[in-house]
Amino acid sequence: MQKTCASAFSGAAQATGLLVSSDSATLLPAQPRRFRMINSPMHQLTMTVLMTPTMSNFTGNVHGGAILKLLDEVAYACASRYAGSYVVTMGVDQVTFRQPIHVGELVTFLASVNLTGRSSMEVGIKVIAEDIQGKSVRHTISCYFTMVALGADRKPVSVPLFEPGTLEERQWQAAAIKRRDLRQQLEREHQAIKASVVAPEA
Ligand SMILES: CC(C)(COP(=O)(O)OP(=O)(O)OC[C@H]1O[C@@H](n2cnc3c(N)ncnc32)[C@H](O)[C@@H]1OP(=O)(O)O)[C@@H](O)C(=O)NCCC(=O)NCCS
Repeated sequence: MQKTCASAFSGAAQATGLLVSSDSATLLPAQPRRFRMINSPMHQLTMTVLMTPTMSNFTGNVHGGAILKLLDEVAYACASRYAGSYVVTMGVDQVTFRQPIHVGELVTFLASVNLTGRSSMEVGIKVIAEDIQGKSVRHTISCYFTMVALGADRKPVSVPLFEPGTLEERQWQAAAIKRRDLRQQLEREHQAIKASVVAPEA
């Protein structure tokens, strides 16, 4: 009984940054510890979220905006952790909801830095929805965020060069280079369209 209380207390104390000695309930100041995240390279991040009723739209499925918010948070966490600095979202492309995500499903976001520039990073995110009762999983979305690392002065700063370590990562990087070229081409075309529209007389 005493042990149960102690371990519950220990859990609460750890959440507040205090450690409990094993032989008594004496609170000791927490010492900084170095954790190594097993199987979690710095350029990758995984997050799983349960889809709750608060995330639903009028049809009862998950609201697209709720997924977009989570995607942005995952992209931020992945890029920021990789760069070791604050980052902002420059843009996102290819978010297409081909099938709905349902309330009650577990959604896993698999994020990876695919390509780095000087200050920018492409973060690819693959979204997997798991129907817990139906015991099935499906790939719902893949999308690509451009994130830019900023310094304390809020100006772009350089990020570590990403060097792919596996064949799959080399393929993702090659695809990311093509997407970057496509984005630049699209940007030029959008500017040309904008320039072709005559502003109405004031
Ligand atoms: C991100 C930001 C600081 C970049 O400013 P900037 O003046 O364009 O800075 P730079 O010209 O140095 O470009 C920075 C990087 O962004 C990239 N970039 C610029 N425009 C881009 C675009 N349209 N698409 C993709 N990448 C772009 C550049 O290529 C550069 O990458 P690199 O350093 O790897 O070569 C600025 O645009 C900004 O503050 N945007 C708002 C971001 C934000 O608040 N997001 C949340 C919205 S609610």
